[in-house]
Amino acid sequence: MSQTHKRILLGISGGIAAYKCAELVRRLKDHHCDVKVVMTESAKQFITPLTMQAVSGEPVADSLLDPAAEAAMGHIELAKWADLVLVAPASSNIIAKMAAGIADDLLTTLLLATPTTVAIAPAMNQQMYAHLATQSNLSTLASRGVAVWGPGQGEQACGDVGKGRMLEPHELVSLTLDALTPEVPLLAGKTVTITAGPTREALDPVRYISNHSSGKMGYALAEAALALGAQVHLISGPVTLTPPQGCEVHAVSSALDMHQMAMKLAPDSDIFIGCAAVADYRAADIAEQKIKKQGDAMTLTLVKNPDIIADVAALKAHRPYTVGFAAETQDVAQYAQGKLKNKGLDMICANDVSQAGIGFNANDNALTLFWDNAQQSLPLASKSELALTVVKAIAGKLN
Ligand code: C5P
Repeated sequence: MSQTHKRILLGISGGIAAYKCAELVRRLKDHHCDVKVVMTESAKQFITPLTMQAVSGEPVADSLLDPAAEAAMGHIELAKWADLVLVAPASSNIIAKMAAGIADDLLTTLLLATPTTVAIAPAMNQQMYAHLATQSNLSTLASRGVAVWGPGQGEQACGDVGKGRMLEPHELVSLTLDALTPEVPLLAGKTVTITAGPTREALDPVRYISNHSSGKMGYALAEAALALGAQVHLISGPVTLTPPQGCEVHAVSSALDMHQMAMKLAPDSDIFIGCAAVADYRAADIAEQKIKKQGDAMTLTLVKNPDIIADVAALKAHRPYTVGFAAETQDVAQYAQGKLKNKGLDMICANDVSQAGIGFNANDNALTLFWDNAQQSLPLASKSELALTVVKAIAGKLN
């Protein structure tokens, strides 16, 4: 949104802080905002429409039933015109009307008719602000998405000291500008590929070697990356989880399948996270028919699987920022840092799986991140919370 296109509808209700609205409008106009002012009847007792017209450069609207004003810009049109509706000062009376959905004058009607963001700057006597009725009305408005800015603390016009002062014009201007600046998600435009879950290494048509990985951490990472605006590829071994909505799922079974898919997607990814519990070995030969019992003991010949993440990290061209996981039962830091170096990773997330309740299959986890010569401990939290912290930490390392 360009500077010149910020359109603010300022609703002034009755309160002594209304005298600050002239300054508020001037500061908004300094920031190239177009401001139209709507006043309640009682607001006019505190500041004149003429003053507000002079500072805004626009006629002030104050009546729902004024044919001339309606001919210039109808109240529904006015409600749709604004990028943000700011009620400042917002008296306890208008807050109560908003909470109840009352539309008995121009401002309250506009507030029901506007599809845009609404913010209020409460201003009233501290006792009125603290009253349960006001607090309950404010909670109702907040739960409907109304932004409640302030009030501030301090000496009041009536002589009381407490919470109820309208925020200063410069504070309201800065909140207004922030509210109108769309937040760019941390990973917008980035592609993240994540491996998750176990692999299954077939022995014959009915048997396989696998492990207890649930895929929960990898799926939580996918959800976190999506929440931060990334395009997400989830290469998933067999799990029972529902994938987060919006990611592209690539279902695989064996380590070789996972390796093939990872090598296909990694060069087009900005970040690669290897969270899968990949089987280190697979059967040298997969029997075509079900293997029959052969006496008291049998020997399986296994061969090493490719190290997927090490191969991604070794890419010469289009190498993504590569993050591995290390589940350890002892000397966590030492083993994790060894893997960081030997596999050529940018970061490794280590967890101590000897502790009860974390890691494999659990809903919670605690991790230590290692990169370069630094480390960061992330205390016990749900895998979702932890995943968001991990993905934010990774995003911070890009560029
Ligand atoms: O060597 P270790 O299995 O402990 O290393 C764990 C890390 O390496 C994890 O990020 C895991 O996803 C990855 N890995 C892999 N391919 C393998 C073995 C592990 O990508 N064959």
